[in-house]
Amino acid sequence: MLVLGIETSCDETAAAVVEDGRLVRSNVVWSQVAIHARYRGVVPEIASRNHLRALIPVMEQALEEAGVPLGAVDGIAVTVGPGLIGSLLVGVQFAKAVAFALGRPLVGVNHLEAHVMAAFLADNQPEFPFVALAVSGGHTSLYLLESLGQVRLLGRTRDDAAGEAFDKAAALLGLPYPGGVHIDRVSQGRNVAAVHFPRAMLHEEGTLEMSFSGLKTALRRYLEALGRPLTDNEVGDIAASFQEAVVDILVARTLRAARQTGVRHVVVAGGVAANRRLRTRMEETALEAGLSLHLVPFAYCTDNAAMVAALGYHYLFGGLAGSQAVPRGLDMDPFERHVLDGW
Ligand code: KG4
Ligand code: ZN
Repeated sequence: MLVLGIETSCDETAAAVVEDGRLVRSNVVWSQVAIHARYRGVVPEIASRNHLRALIPVMEQALEEAGVPLGAVDGIAVTVGPGLIGSLLVGVQFAKAVAFALGRPLVGVNHLEAHVMAAFLADNQPEFPFVALAVSGGHTSLYLLESLGQVRLLGRTRDDAAGEAFDKAAALLGLPYPGGVHIDRVSQGRNVAAVHFPRAMLHEEGTLEMSFSGLKTALRRYLEALGRPLTDNEVGDIAASFQEAVVDILVARTLRAARQTGVRHVVVAGGVAANRRLRTRMEETALEAGLSLHLVPFAYCTDNAAMVAALGYHYLFGGLAGSQAVPRGLDMDPFERHVLDGW
């Protein structure tokens, strides 16, 4: 079964064709980063207008790369939330129109569930029940996935998302937007203990909540106290130290979530899961703790439509077909039902 996935929740216009929820036939992501860079953040109205411009060519490219005509698609999956409402509307209305024209079923999926289920695009598949850390620019949350479609929120950040913390730190350090990937880059081989940044709540017992907003304040104060321009090596050391503090919190909370739930399989997903230091530290920790770790493959960490198509397959044709867990068909209402229980 071929599912066409459409993703427009933020500033990436993406389309993908995935076979049987596993085999990615194509995965096209048109990023608007260059357009939003000068505002140092996504401008929702500009994002919506660019999704309108880009969707048809992006879908056509996805079909071409997959080597199939539109008529060969068996079903369509589209992200219905969470995300920027204008951007979501463009994608959802487009997907509805395609589904209507083709007479094929359509399913709306949750963006975070799609991030997590991208773990199934790896060779080494997670087994239910598993704990998932979903860590992106908008979210940092731990979930227990009891079975397909059965999700429980275990804990989340009280303030900033980890990706947001990286992006703000990068801006303070004069690195390009969006900052996460540049923090990762300049930290390579640098001293992770050059500056001591706070690990908020790290030693608070029992909790699975996190906090990252104090970190950027600590960085701002540190730079103000220093009061002079930084050398490239200093930027690298500070970035590496900042990154280490974020990674310490994420690793400790994920390990605690696995221990508290008694679950052995762990998934790490979302844009920040692309971070090399986080991947390495998660691997080391999982090995020590005897956990089976499933890092989402690098190519499917940041926003993409392959994850949307892969999840959509389960709702349209796989184990969740016929379930009422998400809005189905052309009459779905993205405003009422786009946030699933627990997400
Ligand atoms: O999942 P995603 O593409 O979009 C959201 O759903 O938010 O995540 C984007 C976030 C941004 O904050 C970006 O800076 C961060 O993921 N990110 C990274 C890396 N690549 C992307 N953060 C740290 N290291 C990276 N390599
Ligand atoms: Zn995302």
